[in-house]
Parts: sequence; structure tokens; C-alpha cells
Amino acid sequence: MSIYFEEKSGTFHLTNNEISYLIKILENGHLGHLYFGKAVHHKENFDYLVEMKQRPMTSCVFKENNLFALEHTQQEFPSYGSGDFRQPAVRVQQKNGSALTDFVFESYRVQKGKPTLQGLPATYCESEDEAETLCITVKDELTGVKADLLYTIFAGRSALARSVYFVNEGNEDVFLDTAMSLCLDLPDYDYEWVQLSGSWSRERHVCKRHLQYGIQSVGSTRGTSSHNHNPFVALKRPDTTETEGEALGFSLIYSGNFLAQAEVDNWNVTRFTMGIHPLNFNWKLEPGESFQTPEAVAVYSENGLNGMSQTFHKLYQKRLARGYWRDRPRPILINNWEATEFDFTEEKLISIARTAKEQGIEMFVLDDGWFGKRVSDFAGLGDWYPNPDRLENGITGLAEKIEALDMKFGLWIEPEMVNLDSDLYRAHPDWLLATPGRRMSTGRNQYVLDFSRGEVVDYIYESLAKLLREAKISYIKWDMNRCITEPYSAKLPADREQEVLHRYILGVYDLYDRLTTEFPHVLFESCASGGGRFDPGILYYAPQGWVSDDTDAIERLKIQYGTSMCYPVSCMGAHVSAVPNQQVQRMTSLKTRANVACFGTFGYELDLNLLSQEELAQVREQVKFMKEYREVLQFGTFYRLKSPFEGNFGCWMCVSEDQNTAIVGWYKILNGPIQPFQRVKLRGLDSSKAYCVDGEEVYYGDELMNIGLVTTDNSSGQIVDGIEPSGDFDSRLFILKAKK
Ligand code: GLA
Repeated sequence: MSIYFEEKSGTFHLTNNEISYLIKILENGHLGHLYFGKAVHHKENFDYLVEMKQRPMTSCVFKENNLFALEHTQQEFPSYGSGDFRQPAVRVQQKNGSALTDFVFESYRVQKGKPTLQGLPATYCESEDEAETLCITVKDELTGVKADLLYTIFAGRSALARSVYFVNEGNEDVFLDTAMSLCLDLPDYDYEWVQLSGSWSRERHVCKRHLQYGIQSVGSTRGTSSHNHNPFVALKRPDTTETEGEALGFSLIYSGNFLAQAEVDNWNVTRFTMGIHPLNFNWKLEPGESFQTPEAVAVYSENGLNGMSQTFHKLYQKRLARGYWRDRPRPILINNWEATEFDFTEEKLISIARTAKEQGIEMFVLDDGWFGKRVSDFAGLGDWYPNPDRLENGITGLAEKIEALDMKFGLWIEPEMVNLDSDLYRAHPDWLLATPGRRMSTGRNQYVLDFSRGEVVDYIYESLAKLLREAKISYIKWDMNRCITEPYSAKLPADREQEVLHRYILGVYDLYDRLTTEFPHVLFESCASGGGRFDPGILYYAPQGWVSDDTDAIERLKIQYGTSMCYPVSCMGAHVSAVPNQQVQRMTSLKTRANVACFGTFGYELDLNLLSQEELAQVREQVKFMKEYREVLQFGTFYRLKSPFEGNFGCWMCVSEDQNTAIVGWYKILNGPIQPFQRVKLRGLDSSKAYCVDGEEVYYGDELMNIGLVTTDNSSGQIVDGIEPSGDFDSRLFILKAKK
């Protein structure tokens, strides 16, 4: 891994064995972008990549050079108004009404390792030789605004982390109204754009389209990263598959409003930008003040979408997630929400926990409804003390009883919210986000606390820390169940009101940081009505997240498949729930529900006391299986093999690091009569090793990868002796073990 600077040609080259990234200081001092892709040899200059052509209707930089026009130049940090008519990476409003800037190269420095981003989540290194960081400082002379463009390249990873740090060294206030974390100009537009979109209960479905002239984008303006669009986009070549061909992946480590956008100009150049959504964002920088953008990660893959995903998985699993739980297999839990919702007593909870313990389940999680006057979703949010009418022994007493069963105890919270019917609201009616003179929109009967205010975050921190100090709590599920509306803080001055949504997220990160620092052994799981804030920003604090409120196994196939584009299995909260399923009323077998959920952090979310003895025996087997293989499932290399978006089957697998164990999950959606034979080509095995499949036949790795694993299903409409017939929503797990 190296970062070169060639003084004579003004060329920067960041490279490792996998990728190269090339930047050049242009004639006008701006930074030109030359290349991002597979690694190339280093040279003194790559000037041939600065292509220029005289084109009519062009505004040129210098009057003596009618070839150099910004609109035809690939750039690193473009702005609008001086001949580049595309969407900018930066916009700075000034006192005289202008928003023009002219960011010119000033200096650069290279440092070992990777600096942290103040107050923001980001990838990190554990030792300085894991990464190198280039910081290029550009300055707009007239305003005095400086920007440090940060680029980190990691040893052995096809990934580059980018962010921008602004400081106002001028004498006047300015306002940043666009501050993208990443801008990448690509020389052509022969890409398919892949996004993860959906809604509550069907998050992160894979959607694809070819890039077209003009602007295409996804984003969120809801105050959270949202169920609707994830802060992730891939650009892949049309013939790129899951395993072959070029793909670029972009991911923003941020949990608030974001924009991911591609603008294709009329000469086929694609400008990709990613960062905080400029809508309702305007950050005041007084002289001496600074602003740090979130970090964006760009990944290059020549091994298709799987290659891209694996780079994200390993980076996010090992160098974004942190703490005690980062590398530890996750406890198998039982959550009471779908079993009881608000209707529980201590006795009922203990009885669920006891039955769970008998099946080998390790942790009991008490969901919503334990605090304040919370007996429905109309009251109580904000009052983080147990309701003695429901839990006579409080949380401390309940936790003790659970611990006495030799189980861990976990608890649900929703710290950012308040109900009007709460002691907190009655005491502090100005602590929520609301715009003076305007109606307050409501969502799930609740309102959003103003986390841009330090005293609000302090108060919530104190109430939660008290709970965590007093009771033996091993796990926290941190929920967030509405979008933000009427964004306005009673505390901020008028010219800073457009900062509130970003300040809110900084407040959320601050609370996460304080709680995870004080309680390093508590496992945090994020949640936002399912997967409404399932993003890399939250992953930095909470190493797992509730993927979706939709727990139907067949819906989950698509949701988990889509989620795996960017996120590792170790962070995907997945539970077995009751049937008919709450969200779609579908009946699926207990086997299939577990076969999907085991490619996740795994748990149960139903009243186990309602299961038959046979079903409980099955649960015991599932728990035993999970304990034996969770290391491989959660921390192995994950491969998508068959897309449930493209046919009647889904298939994926995880392979252990030593390639000695692999688990394949095969899933059928609908049954059909007289079905064809089927094989699935496996991935990631050692060609020369012989693998025993399900303790029976032995096949070489190369056979399984080149010929394929036979997955023909028995449901041809005929009953074959000794083989159980298969129906709709059937599934199988194949366990592969290398022979010694
Ligand atoms: C959200 C979560 C659920 C559950 C409920 C409780 O919808 O996604 O898992 O915790 O809130 O109110």
C-alpha cells in the first residue's frame, strides 16, 4: 500500500495490490480526477488522462486556452458557477449573496493509519500499517474557506474511505449548503445502478436500472437513513454478474438524511456524489469554525457483486463495528414482542423465558411496554423507569430472575422519542422538535426529542445509565419509530435552524458513544420500526441491527439477500416468529423459518409455550445447530448464489475462513409439478479439499464449484419412497465439512 506524489506532474497515486486512485493538480489549481479501479503500475505522470477537446458552447477557464473547460474535466471537488454546470460537491453561501468558490490546491500530507472523525462514526485501523491517509488541502482564497479532502487506502482491501473537513479561515460567516462526502467522475456511463429500496416491512429490495443522461438519485429526507432507500449504491457493468465483472460500491457511514446521485452529462461522463442531503441542510461556519462531513466508502470489485459485498462485509465487520461483541458469536435470544406485544405480566415473561431456557436459548429480551405509563403506544415514551403496576420487582428484579434461570437479560428502549402523555413532556414541553406556529405531525402517537440539545441528550443518558447501572442488563434494543417532521429546535438561533437534522444525528451518536463506552459489555442492537435506520453509521455503535419487522421467512429471503449487498451476516438481526405470520399471514414451516433466520444473529420471537412437544424438540435442534455453526454463519465469507428477486429459488452460503466448513441455505418459494433437475454452483471452497455433505457423500471442492451441488427438489408431484414430499416455501441447509 502506497501513496505517491509526483511533484513535477502534480499527480497523486493511492494504490495497494488491489486498486489505484489517481488525482492530478490541474492548471488552475483545482483537483482533477484521473482514475479509480483495478491497480495499475505507478508512473511519474498520467497526463494523457486529462483529455481536452474544443466543444462549442463551452466556457473556458483561461482566455488563452479554449481547450480547458471545467464542464469537460473530471474533478475531485467541483463547484458550480464557473463553467461546470453539473451538480457540485460543495456550495458555500457568502455575505455578498454569491455562492461561487474556487478551491485551489494548497498543500498535502500523508500519514500512516487513519485519523478519527470527530463526533462521527468511521472505519478505523488497529495498527498504523493497516492504512495510509492522504489529506489534500484546498483553499478558496476569497472566503478563506479551507477544505481537507481525506482519502484512506487500506492494506489488502479494495476500498477507499473519503471525507471532507472544512474550516473557515476567513473573516466573515459563510454557510455550507452542499458538502458531499464523495464525488467521483467516471469516464463513461455504461453502468447499471443498483439500489436497495423498499418501505417498512420490505426493506432493501434490490432494484436495478441502466444509467441514463441526466440525474438519477436515491436519498432520504426523513431524518433517518430510512426504510425507503439505503445509503448504498452499486454501479456495475451490464454484464457483471454476482461473481464476475466490474462493480463499484458506494456506502455512506451516516444515519440521517443522505443523497446518492449520479449525473450523466451529454458526453457520457458520470458524476457520482454521496453525502448529507442538501435539502434542509445549511451549516453556518463562523470565522474559525469547522465542519466534518460523514465518511463515504468506495469499493472496487472485479469479481462481481459478491466480490464488492465481501469487501464491505470484511471492512464493516472488522474495522467499522467495534468493541467486545465485534468478533464474538451472538447470543441466541428470545424476544417477547410478537408473543405478547403490550399484554404481559412478570409471570408471563418468566414463563416464556423458562421454556426458552429449556430449549437452550441464551438470552431473554423484554421489548416495549415496561416503563412509565406504557400500556399502549399512546403513553410513556420518555419515562425510562419501570412501571410497578406491570413489573412489581422492577427491571432489576426481573433481570435477577432471568439471570437466576442462567440466562442473560436484554431490554428495549426508544430513547429519542416522547409521548405527550409522559412525565418528561409535562416537565419539558419545549424538548421536542417542533416549528413555532405550525401543527406538529404525529407518527405512532409520538414525537421526536430535540437531540440537537446537549441537555436533552444528558437527561436521557442519565436515565438510561441509571437503569444499566442498577440492573443486570446484557443487551439493549434501541428503537426509533418515526420520521422527523417540523425540524426546528427551540434552542438554535434562526440562522442555524437548518443545522438541526445533522445536529440531531450527532446527538444520537453522542448518546450511543457514552452508553457504549460506559457499558462496553452490553450488546446493542439497533432498530427503527424494523430496518428504518439500518446503516453503517449505526453499525459503528451497535454491531447488530433488526433487519425488518417483517419476520416472514419468504419475505426475509429478499430482505436479507438485499441487505447482504453491503452488510455482513453478523449484523443482521433475524428471528423465528409464529405462523400465520403477523405481517403477511403466510404459513411457513418452523424449519424454513429457522433456515432463513440462521443466516443472521438468530433468535425467536413467539410464545414458545404455545408450541407442541414436537415443535419444541425441533427448536432444541435448531438452537443446537446454531450454537455449533454460528461462528461460520456469522463470521464466514458470505456468497449469494441464487437471487429470490430473479426466480422461484434463493440460495446463499457461508464458508469458514479455513475453508473447512460451509453451510448452504437453499430455499424454494412456490412448489411446482414435475420439476426439472437442479444444481447450484458453490463458491469459496478449496478446490483440492474433499467435502462431506451432510455427513454423507464426499465431493471435491472443485466438483461442488464447477459442476455444482445437486439441489433437485423432491416435489415433482410424486411421492418417492422414503423421501418426504416437499411443498411451497420449502428449504434445506447443506452442511459441508472438509475431510481431514
Ligand atoms: C418497532 C420494532 C419492533 C418492536 C416494536 C415495539 O416496531 O421494530 O420490533 O420493538 O417497535 O413497539
